Amino acid sequence: MKKIEAIVRKEKFQEVYDILADSGIGGMTVTPAQGFGHHRNGLKDKMKIEIYADEFQVDKVLEMIRKVARTGATGDGKIAVLPLDNIIRIRTGEDGASAI
Ligand SMILES: Nc1ncnc2c1ncn2[C@@H]1O[C@H](COP(=O)(O)OP(=O)(O)OP(=O)(O)O)[C@@H](O)[C@H]1O
Ligand SMILES: [Mg+2]
Repeated sequence: MKKIEAIVRKEKFQEVYDILADSGIGGMTVTPAQGFGHHRNGLKDKMKIEIYADEFQVDKVLEMIRKVARTGATGDGKIAVLPLDNIIRIRTGEDGASAI
């Protein structure tokens, strides 16, 4: 399992949401964020998206985010893929991939 953490332009968030919501992911968490990249031109408004994904979903999710969030201009954002030890569904207590 992986945690996919994407930081995207605010103006691109709705498109990213639309494609991901239809993609079969288990869920997502979204947080308004501010940040800077290499250009250090002050803090810019971004959206941070967090998704817990099973291994087989990861490439597809990355491809969808890249396709929709890219403008080609500086500041399009970043995607991080992190190892995920476990997921627990609080309601049932189940864990692992079936809890996604
Ligand atoms: N090294 C980093 N660590 C954490 N967050 C980052 C990092 N780099 C970028 N971000 C986040 O991503 C947002 C967009 O970054 P940005 O796309 O400008 O990255 P970049 O590496 O400068 O690429 P580009 O050349 O496209 O501008 C930033 O506002 C910040 O929120
Ligand atoms: Mg930049």
